[in-house]
Amino acid sequence: MRKLCTSVMAAVFLALFVFSASVEAAADRTPVSVTNARWYPLYHIAAPAGWVNDPNGFSYFDGEYHFFYQHYPYDVTWHPMHWGHVVSKDLAHWQHLPIAIEPDHIYDASGGCFSGSAIEKDGKLYLMYTGHVDLPVKTLDGADRIESQNIAVSSDGVKFVKIAENPVLYVPDVKGVSQSDFRDPKVWEHDGKYYVVIGSRTPTDDPNDRRSIGQVLLFDSDDLINWNFKSIMAKGQGNQGFMWECPNFATVDGTDVFIFSPQGVAPEGNKYLNVHQSVYMLGDLDYETGIYKHGGMTMLDYGFDFYAPQVLQMADGRVIMIGWLDMWESKFPEQADGWSCMMTVPRELHVIDGKLYTTPVKELASLRKSEVSYQNLKIKGSKKLDGVRGETGELIATIDTAKSKNFSIEFRSSGKEKTVLSYDAATRTLKLNRDKSGASAGVVGEREVQIAPNDTMKLQVFIDRSSLEIFVNDGEAVISSRIYPQETSQDIVFKAQGGALELKDVTFYTLGEGIEQPRFR
Ligand code: FRU
Repeated sequence: MRKLCTSVMAAVFLALFVFSASVEAAADRTPVSVTNARWYPLYHIAAPAGWVNDPNGFSYFDGEYHFFYQHYPYDVTWHPMHWGHVVSKDLAHWQHLPIAIEPDHIYDASGGCFSGSAIEKDGKLYLMYTGHVDLPVKTLDGADRIESQNIAVSSDGVKFVKIAENPVLYVPDVKGVSQSDFRDPKVWEHDGKYYVVIGSRTPTDDPNDRRSIGQVLLFDSDDLINWNFKSIMAKGQGNQGFMWECPNFATVDGTDVFIFSPQGVAPEGNKYLNVHQSVYMLGDLDYETGIYKHGGMTMLDYGFDFYAPQVLQMADGRVIMIGWLDMWESKFPEQADGWSCMMTVPRELHVIDGKLYTTPVKELASLRKSEVSYQNLKIKGSKKLDGVRGETGELIATIDTAKSKNFSIEFRSSGKEKTVLSYDAATRTLKLNRDKSGASAGVVGEREVQIAPNDTMKLQVFIDRSSLEIFVNDGEAVISSRIYPQETSQDIVFKAQGGALELKDVTFYTLGEGIEQPRFR
C-alpha cells in the first residue's frame, strides 16, 4: 500500500507541472498535411496526415465499425499520443472522424493517451486506454513513469468525454509486478462480467533492462469503473520477451486465443528477426482462477512490418484483426511527405487443426473494379501478363507446386527496382526480399516462412502504393511489409528458375478507394 501511495502521489504532483507546460506548448500547434501522395494508401487505414502507431479501440457500435489508432497530428514523428478515429459500414470503405481523445488531463497530459480498447455498454461506447505520465525523477519504488487506465465515453460514437472517476485502475501492489509498465488494456465481457487484460513485466529498476519477463495481468469488474485484480494471467518462459505489449484476447472457433506483442524476443534461426514481435498462443482461460493454460507462441506475420494487432470479436463469434503495418525503429520514408505509418487490411481469424489462420476479410471484394484472368500458364524464363500490374491492386495466383521448381514473383518492378517473393522448392521456403524495393525503410534483406507440403500454393497479394501483404494458402502464413518504390515501378514479373513455373490460374483486380485521399492545398 505504501508503495502504491508513493507512486500515485509522485505522479499527481509531478504531472501537475508537466500538464501546465504541455497545455502551453499545445496552444500554437497546427496539424501537418500530406504534401505528396506517392506512398499514401488507396484502401488501407491511415491518418489524414501526421504520425500513426498501434490500432486502438476496434469495435462495432450502432451499426458501424469503429477503429482508432495512436496518433500525433502535429508532426510526422511520435509525440504525446492522441487517438485518431475512422469509421466504416463494411470494413472496406473508411471515413475519417475527428480525433477522439487527446492528452489533456493530469493522468495523460505528459506522455499521452496510450493504447487501449473499446466496448459497448448501455448503448454507449466506452474507450479504455492507458494514461502515460513520464516522471522527471524516480519514485521510491524505482518507477520512472506512471501508467494508469482511464475511460472516455460517447453516446454518438464521435464525441468522447473522459469520466470523473479516472484513473479507474492503477498498477496493483502485487509481488512480481513492475510499477512502471502497465499498459494497453483489452476489455471484454464474459457471462455478465467485464474483464481486462493489461501488458506488464516483472519488476526492474531500469526500463532498459531486458532481463525482466513479460507478462499480462487480469482484472474483473461489474461496471467498467471498479476493478479487482484477479491474476497474472500468463507469463513468459524462456525467450518470450522482457515486456508484453498490446495483449488481446478472443474466442476463435471455441479456442481462447491470446495475442500479444512481446518486446525483445531474440532471433531464433529465421524467426523473430524484427525489433519486436507479434505472436499468438492457443489455450483455455479459467475464469475462476484467472489462469490461462496455453501452448507455445507462434508468429502472426512473417514480414518486416507488423506490430500491435488488435482484434474485434463480433456478436456472431467472428473475429477480425487489424495490425500496424510498420515496425519500431524503421526509417519511415513517407515522413518526407507529411505522414507516417498505416494499418494492415482487416483479417479474419480461424483456428484449424491447432493453428491460427488469418485471411483477408471477404468484404474487401467490394473494392474490386476491373478483373483480368489467365488459366493454365507454363512459364519458362520470365513473363509479364497483360493487365497484371499496378501501384495498387489484388493478385490471386494458384501455383502448381508439384510441377513447378523454384520460382519468383517480382512486385512493383521497373527492372531495376523490385520487391522479390521467391520460393525454394527443396526447403518449401517463401522469402520476401526488399533490398531493391526503392527508398530504404532502414532494414533490408529477407524475411521467410516455411510452408507445409502441398501440391498447390495459393497466393493472395494486396498491393497498395507502399505496402505488400501476401496471404499464403488461405491464411496458413502472411508476409506483410512496407516498400517505397517509385510510382512508375508497376510491373509484376513471374520468373521460373531452372524448370517451369506452372500457374493454374492468375487473377488481377484493380481496386477502388477505401480511405479518403489526401487533399492538396
Ligand atoms: C506499442 C506501444 C504501446 C503503447 C503505445 C504508445 O507499440 O508501445 O505499448 O501503448 O505504443 O504509443
